[in-house]
Amino acid sequence: MWSPLDILSLETWILIATLLCLARFYLHRKWQFLKKLNIPHYPPSILKIGTLRYNAKPSEFFTSDLEMKKKFGMVYGQYMGWSPRIVISDPDILKQIMIKEFNNFYDRQKSLQKVNGKALNNGLTNITGDTWRRVRHTISPMFSTSKLRSMIGVIDKCADEMVENLQSIAKDNDGVFDTKGVFGKYTLSAICSAAFGVDVNSQKDEKESKAIRMAKKLFQAKFLSNPMLYILIIFPWMEKIAEKMDFTFFPRDALKYFENLTNSILKISSSPDPKQTSTVLQLLAESEISEKETKSKTKGLTHMEITGNGVLMILAGYETTSSAIIFLAFNLAWHKDVQEKLREEIREIVKSDNSLDYEKLNGLKYLTQCINESLRLYPPAPRNGRYCEKKITINGITIPGKIHIDIPTYGMARDPEYWDEPEKYIPERMDDMSKIDPIIFQPFGAGPRNCIGLRLALMKIRLAICKVLLNFELDVCPDTPKPPIEIIIEATMRPKVDVLHLKAIPLK
Ligand code: HEM
Repeated sequence: MWSPLDILSLETWILIATLLCLARFYLHRKWQFLKKLNIPHYPPSILKIGTLRYNAKPSEFFTSDLEMKKKFGMVYGQYMGWSPRIVISDPDILKQIMIKEFNNFYDRQKSLQKVNGKALNNGLTNITGDTWRRVRHTISPMFSTSKLRSMIGVIDKCADEMVENLQSIAKDNDGVFDTKGVFGKYTLSAICSAAFGVDVNSQKDEKESKAIRMAKKLFQAKFLSNPMLYILIIFPWMEKIAEKMDFTFFPRDALKYFENLTNSILKISSSPDPKQTSTVLQLLAESEISEKETKSKTKGLTHMEITGNGVLMILAGYETTSSAIIFLAFNLAWHKDVQEKLREEIREIVKSDNSLDYEKLNGLKYLTQCINESLRLYPPAPRNGRYCEKKITINGITIPGKIHIDIPTYGMARDPEYWDEPEKYIPERMDDMSKIDPIIFQPFGAGPRNCIGLRLALMKIRLAICKVLLNFELDVCPDTPKPPIEIIIEATMRPKVDVLHLKAIPLK
């Protein structure tokens, strides 16, 4: 008869059993952490990878935010493997964390920051502490009102190309279009033109341009189904090894393509007679300092930081903005009354000279309401976070040092405690923004580390929607899902259906 002693000796089995008991004991101690703080949470277990698997599927994890709030309240805990995290949706506590006590919470997260490839590891989203302060301080002026005003011309051109693109679709395909195809191309060409000063020719080409193919590839990186993500969550110390090996979740050829694009534009920008200079990248290039100077200077970027942040402009600005336009177009197609009212507002503002400028765009009040309401229902970044540096007590809740705080952006934006009929698209509720708490509605984050590209994103969304509504009526197709549309998160939040079709009917 077979016996375990045939494979290993009794001593080895005893050693293995002892090690397993020690590991279990170690985990048990780790999992006491939140209990000792009196922070409610599901019971952690090995099978649930801490408490990770109590949530919905990884790609839909944020949809359980409200359910969790109902069960545990506005402050509850989670274990990602054995790492504890605290989820907070209490607006008063969040105000302290994101604004008043920012100096104790200046990083979004400390883990998974160095696994994006060498250049992107230096991007604003991935750096921490004083390095972040220096880089943010350098990049912020690139999104000032005067810079945005100077970018509007190139973005306007991209919006016109998008209209031409839709016009040819209307002729050949009865107006039925793939929203991601059309709005994704527009967003990419707008970001490349505005930030980089290059025409990636992404909209005119019959065949997809290389930039579009590479951008799509960049966003096909499936973080949540990549086992490496969970290995790094469970064993955070492995991140150092991953960094040394230059590991990245992104497809390497796509990353390389955009790094090379950034570097080639930098060369043109710094030549004595630049043919094509770019606003954001030109400024990035002008800010170059040496590695040594980073120790003493509070402004300036190293060459690697310039490359990384150049690539980041595409990464952070492309998918988020195109998702925002897709969801807005979807909402307008289902709500014809809203669409008509909005078209009237836009017609009224362009009627004097048939043009749109920065001031006119910002003056479109109902458009802003429509955008805000769409971002409330479908925030492209459904969760935010902050890292607590030092132990602090806020409103009676003690937050220990060195812990991640999760902020349920999506949950708060659909919470019936704050919104009547939260699942419905009602732009009228965004009429008086002074009545809306900017912590409860925070699609672009909040406080000093909020989205740096907020105003650029809004300008691109406003231009796109104005041009579309001045030329077309947006309608739904037989296969367009009914609202509220199911959503999942990959790089950012997107509709669950692979292709979201709408119809653009040319206006007479
Ligand atoms: C609708 C479009 C967009 C949405 C919904 C969005 C959302 C966000 C959110 C929620 C954050 C985190 C803020 C926080 O932690 O409080 C963020 C950060 C950031 N966003 Fe955006 N974003 C959008 C467009 C853009 C664009 C167009 C750019 C640049 C061209 C951009 C660049 C960044 C950068 C660099 C950060 C990191 C800021 C830092 O860590 O200091 N975003 N964004």
